Amino acid sequence: ASKTELEKKKILITAGPTYEKIDPVRFIGNYSSGKMGFALAEACARKGAEVVLIAGPVSLKVNHPNIKRIDVESAGEMYQAAISEFPTSDAAVLCAAVADYRPENQEPEKIKRETKGDMMLHLVPNKDIAASLGAIKRENQILVGFALETKDEIFHAESKLQRKNFDFIVLNSLRDQGAGFRCDTNKIAIIDRLGEKIEYPLKSKQEVAADIINKLATLLK
Ligand code: PMT
Repeated sequence: ASKTELEKKKILITAGPTYEKIDPVRFIGNYSSGKMGFALAEACARKGAEVVLIAGPVSLKVNHPNIKRIDVESAGEMYQAAISEFPTSDAAVLCAAVADYRPENQEPEKIKRETKGDMMLHLVPNKDIAASLGAIKRENQILVGFALETKDEIFHAESKLQRKNFDFIVLNSLRDQGAGFRCDTNKIAIIDRLGEKIEYPLKSKQEVAADIINKLATLLK
């Protein structure tokens, strides 16, 4: 694949976790480090794409002139940024680990330990960014999703592919050693709408990003 393969293409990437605030000192989050999404952003930029990287709270840096980074904290903020950038994008790759629920109320002051009893936190659903983009996707736009699973991996990945209207989905399973959150490696399978399924060996997240971008580039032609 050439260095200019993605020239003049605008690619939106979501990366990292989201934090859903409970009170000024606490949140609900997950273990995503942003490594997979940032590797994708850099791989796209190196191939000449104009990249918009919507990043949840992570401690990673980017320095490529083609990457515009938008930092967000919550799923709600990530949704707003994604919805506004997607209509002018040629493709979106949704690598973020977005919280499906948030606390109904964000307490303005730190919650105190007042009694010895249990504490209840009422959660309400967040918007599904992927499904929202899938619903407004135009014919000439490509939407790529991820599936992070712990069991019945293929079944869940295929159902997300359909439900969220992805062109293909990247499956990673927490059952595979060295795959998923935080590590520098990943092990993926790519499943597309024609039912084609390619399984890749364990590789660095940079190499995994290159495999995903190669598949994306064939669809953008
Ligand atoms: O960041 P790292 O530490 O490098 O880890 C990488 C990763 C494991 C986070 C990444 O490879 C990965 O699998 N990302 C997707 C994690 C996830 O939340 O998967 P899911 O199966 O719950 O979601 C399915 C798809 O819908 C994903 O594309 C997700 O971005 C999207 N989604 C989910 C919920 C929501 N409210 N909005 C969404 O857009």
